[in-house]
Amino acid sequence: MNAAIRSVVRSTLSMGHSVYGYYNGFEGLINNNYEMMTLRSVANIIHQGGTILRTTRSPEFFTEEGRAKVYQNLLKNDIEILVALGGDGTIKGLEVFNSEYPGIRTIGLPCTIDNDCFFSEDCIGYDTATNTAVEAIDRVRDTAGSHQRTFVIEVMGRSSSDLAFSVGLSAGAEYVLDLTDKQNLEDCVQVVSESINKGKRASLIVVLESDKKNNTVSAAHVVTSELEKRLKIDCRALVLGHIQRGGRPTSHDRVLASIMGYQLALSIDGQSESGVIVKKRGRVLFRSFERLKKVQDSQNHLELIKTLSL
Ligand code: F6P
Repeated sequence: MNAAIRSVVRSTLSMGHSVYGYYNGFEGLINNNYEMMTLRSVANIIHQGGTILRTTRSPEFFTEEGRAKVYQNLLKNDIEILVALGGDGTIKGLEVFNSEYPGIRTIGLPCTIDNDCFFSEDCIGYDTATNTAVEAIDRVRDTAGSHQRTFVIEVMGRSSSDLAFSVGLSAGAEYVLDLTDKQNLEDCVQVVSESINKGKRASLIVVLESDKKNNTVSAAHVVTSELEKRLKIDCRALVLGHIQRGGRPTSHDRVLASIMGYQLALSIDGQSESGVIVKKRGRVLFRSFERLKKVQDSQNHLELIKTLSL
């Protein structure tokens, strides 16, 4: 996030714009809590995790009244363009705001460890979180091998399994599962059982976190107790949790954040539409919300069938 903030601030200032940095995400826009950003406001932050502007989950922004307050504050400050950094929820919120108040241009930057922005093949933060989780699992592998224990490691990702798969692949896991697919658990037990028969002393399993609203027990504990019960093996659960969201960003993420922020500044002058910065086939580009809607439509299989059978 900080590398992206740095890039947006410095690129837009260098093009002659003024930049307001709002604190606490959408909440700051509602309370008009901001600071004028200068080139120095973003000094020494490229290597830091988190966000110097801080953030909150803001339920109020997801109400009409909340968004009306945001609009009034932006008008008051003569702000013409609203930039938001975040994942799927943030970008959707931005799109709703733009449909209600098209007079303010909005541009989103995909920043999330979940990598769940359908329009971009890469999101800022995803690579760092993957590497952090892989490093943790490499350490766990030492105990797994020495103590001959199977470990079930839970990673974040909300409902997107991208992080779980990239972590599982790079850590050399025996299986990656998502408990929302019931068959996954059966397969996982089968794979671990076959590994034991092949003479493997321990397995590493990666599981996607469960929906927290509907589950009190962690996904890792569900899988662990199932493996222990059914295979009678020594097994441990490990929930990596918020460790995945902090720490030094990787060079990959710093480069992505820097290029995306710069592209955002270029798109301010070159276009008038609202939209997002995306990475598509390796290139960083601006895409309008209008154009994204068409992409979404073409992914609606029922619509496709109806259209082709006209
Ligand atoms: O969306 C990013 C994310 O880290 C998810 O992977 C995770 O489910 C969630 O946020 C955790 O949110 P909180 O910090 O509010 O518990």
